[in-house]
Amino acid sequence: MTTAKLILDGKEYEFPVIVGSENEVAIDISTLRAKTGAITYDPGYGNTGACQSAITYIDGDQGILRYRGYPIQEIAAKATFVETCYLLIYGELPNAEQLSAFRHQLTYHTLLHEDMKKFFDGYTAQSHPMAIMAAMLTSLSTYYAESDDPDVINLNIIRLLAKAKTLAAFSYKKSIGQPYIYPRNDLSYTADFLHMMFAVPAEQYQVPDVLDRALNLLLILHADHEQNCSTSTVRMVGSSRASLFASIGAGVCALWGPLHGGANQEVIEMLEMIQADGGDYQKYMNLAKDKNSSFRLMGFGHRVYKNFDPRAKILKAAADDVLNALGVQDPLLDIAKNLEEIALKDSFFVERKLYPNVDFYSGIIYRAMGIPVDMFTVLFALGRLPGWIAQWKEMRGDPSTRINRPRQIFTGATERHYKPVSER
Ligand code: SDX
Repeated sequence: MTTAKLILDGKEYEFPVIVGSENEVAIDISTLRAKTGAITYDPGYGNTGACQSAITYIDGDQGILRYRGYPIQEIAAKATFVETCYLLIYGELPNAEQLSAFRHQLTYHTLLHEDMKKFFDGYTAQSHPMAIMAAMLTSLSTYYAESDDPDVINLNIIRLLAKAKTLAAFSYKKSIGQPYIYPRNDLSYTADFLHMMFAVPAEQYQVPDVLDRALNLLLILHADHEQNCSTSTVRMVGSSRASLFASIGAGVCALWGPLHGGANQEVIEMLEMIQADGGDYQKYMNLAKDKNSSFRLMGFGHRVYKNFDPRAKILKAAADDVLNALGVQDPLLDIAKNLEEIALKDSFFVERKLYPNVDFYSGIIYRAMGIPVDMFTVLFALGRLPGWIAQWKEMRGDPSTRINRPRQIFTGATERHYKPVSER
């Protein structure tokens, strides 16, 4: 398949076809408007490829997810989150020397400039940590100059990865009125974050291994997901040659939406609502199917996965393991499992291919770990950070990148002329 033909207004046009390494086929319409004067129309971009990428591959029908060719099941079972960051950003799994150097860099860039602590003073305890993260990550550009020099870009990539977890932990401590716990160089990336979250100055806090392993898994599963809403936002903003920090700040804002990364918070609030309503999950299943109801089964459905989200499968098993290891009995997990069981047999969900997505079980685990619900999407952002960075780096390194500027079909008033107010 090398070309595609289009007949418009009786005239035939031919466009090249692009075939990817997994035999995905795209019609290259980059000359469509010049040749035909017409544009395509694809609200939500469900049928539109915005770029070519070598980072993450998803097959929605087969439930396949691979990071740089490695199946998510293998990475989740065998890798660390730091290895996954290296793989996504630099394209290969690090050897021992590369991993040691990368770990050292991430360890020795975790501190914030002391003046950044003053930023937190302006936030109330009720300030949503996603608002804080978006502002703080963008504000890193006020401390660290950016340039097109690859070494500067790489140093700022390290700073982002290292300081994001400090900013996230500090936003949590701010919300509960506790003193900030500073990063420790003797702890792993994930253990250090948990220590900054849960340690208090008055006593020694030993990060439980079960929490460290659970967080490592959760961050890996969220690390990248090709051209989702927030990643496309990072590419869109970065295409104007905006800085890495500004592009990532925009990605945090896009992720916050309840239809995207904010869904993990919405799922728990939905399950709590069902529990408070006597656990009548069938009532809420019926609401989800009712066209007159705005209720949606949060954590269900996906634009790409039309079979199952492999991350949800891994997280469902992990939820049982983590809660058992922590000795936590959470009735919300039973409600979630009952909802899934009913949905997978219900024609409304089956016909629309609505299955649990990554957000359906993740919140159950965060909750068992003692993470407060308004920090769930912050954890999603921490996990997605290497993916956003890798995609931004790939976009900026691609000489064919142009500023993103979609077109439109205008449906408003045709030309008319101003009349003085006395004549309106
Ligand atoms: C993430 O893109 C990514 O990769 C995202 C992500 C990542 O890693 O980056 O995977 C992370 O964002 C996961 C999705 C988290 N969001 C939610 O769980 C929110 C609930 N789900 C939905 O709102 C919805 O399923 C989306 C947003 C996920 C997908 O939306 P689409 O593809 O635009 O689908 P749609 O809204 O057009 O729905 C198609 C049909 C509709 O019914 P009909 O009009 O055909 O009758 O399915 C129905 C919808 O009403 N539907 C749902 C539903 N999701 C879709 N009905 C009830 N409950 C739901 N959750």
